[in-house]
Amino acid sequence: MTLSPPETGTAPAPAAPEPGTGPAPGTGPAPGTGPAPGTGPGENIVDLYLKHIGSGRAVMGRVMGGMAEVRSEGPWIHADDGRRFLNFGGYGVFLMGHRHPAVVEAVHRQIDTHPLASRVFLEPVAAHAARALAAHTPPGLDHIHFVNSGAEATEAALKLARAHGRTSVITTRKGFHGKTLGALSVTANDTYQKPFLPLLPDVTQVGYDDPADLEQALSARRDKAVVVLEPVQGEGGVRIPRPGYLRRVAELCRSYGALLVVDEIQTGMGRLGTWFGVDAEDVRPDIMLIGKGLSGGVVPIAAMAATAETYGPFSRDPYLHTSTFGASPIACAAALATVRAMEREQTVARAAALGERLLADVRQVCAPYEGGLVHEVRGRGLLIGMEFAREQAVGELLLELIARGVLVNHSLNSTRVLRLTPPAVVDDAALAFFRTTLAEGLRSTAARMAG
Ligand SMILES: Cc1ncc(COP(=O)(O)O)c(C=O)c1O
Repeated sequence: MTLSPPETGTAPAPAAPEPGTGPAPGTGPAPGTGPAPGTGPGENIVDLYLKHIGSGRAVMGRVMGGMAEVRSEGPWIHADDGRRFLNFGGYGVFLMGHRHPAVVEAVHRQIDTHPLASRVFLEPVAAHAARALAAHTPPGLDHIHFVNSGAEATEAALKLARAHGRTSVITTRKGFHGKTLGALSVTANDTYQKPFLPLLPDVTQVGYDDPADLEQALSARRDKAVVVLEPVQGEGGVRIPRPGYLRRVAELCRSYGALLVVDEIQTGMGRLGTWFGVDAEDVRPDIMLIGKGLSGGVVPIAAMAATAETYGPFSRDPYLHTSTFGASPIACAAALATVRAMEREQTVARAAALGERLLADVRQVCAPYEGGLVHEVRGRGLLIGMEFAREQAVGELLLELIARGVLVNHSLNSTRVLRLTPPAVVDDAALAFFRTTLAEGLRSTAARMAG
């Protein structure tokens, strides 16, 4: 992605007192209306990033306009300069929007009673969250291992596969599964892998949506392989495989004695207009990875779901794979409240309907540029990709949209694709605002790139 500063929309971050040094709660300005917390006199957040977090992130922040985000609700994020942004990005986390009231309330309640556990006794909210989630995973995937991030879910799956002797890993080109060392080994991106070589041994990449390539790799690894892939590649640029691909993958895994891990970290929890991407083809993997939306956009949590047979090693020895904060009551409260809110509000059906409408809108707005600036618009549910003819257009449009009040994401493994992952809680006014903003942003991007 090539990023250059927008002509409008840049605003310096103002100074503000350290958190806790300001007025007592309730006595100051309404949250988000005052300056951003975290800075002392004469300092701004970009400087603090430069000094303490990293120059790269600081520079990115400056290029994005230098604002700090301080408040959110529904599809909106508010910046410290008083502007608000429609969040159609968020890397796929915010299907329920920001601060969904039911999730926030459940988390508050958990904080007021028992946020973190001793790990000695049993944790009821973890058990309830596991049952609630398992009611929506494919039949048989009813064992749930909660973790704190998507990459940790991938790690858990890779280790579980090894416990079954499946040490030969097959993954797909442009696939993304996280950046911890094991997960990075199956994330097909040289830029992120090279500085950390050597990674896990015996990892083979095959073409996505290419069952013949997969079969060739599997036939050389009978009863030794684990296959890890996404139902739709998100970071790979919203690549939607042809109908029947996932089912064929599952058949091939069965024929060659391979374990199948489907990574639904980005696609699951309603993002594609079904609870999980595998539902569209009635596929039952051995292991499924869930993250992002499971948090309800409130507390980070991810999970690995597995069949009883596959889960066996983790089930028998509860210390085989653990982490201090995994399955914490506070995160499980968020997950449980999220699943219940999704059931009540029929979020999955809303995502499907809204996705169709939005895809049609984006296609219509992009139509004048097809064959020129825009190569293709594609999507399923609320995961929509706009592929451009040139990489530069992604950065230009992203900044044009920010300058006009809309946030979207680029794709880490596909530099020509801009990704939309909007919440399912947008109203007609927000949709109209998005449409107008996209049209203006495209017009301006096309003019800049022609000039
Ligand atoms: C398909 C997929 N798997 C795994 C991950 C890693 O998740 P996390 O960033 O929570 O570690 C991501 C993140 O974008 C993802 O899209």
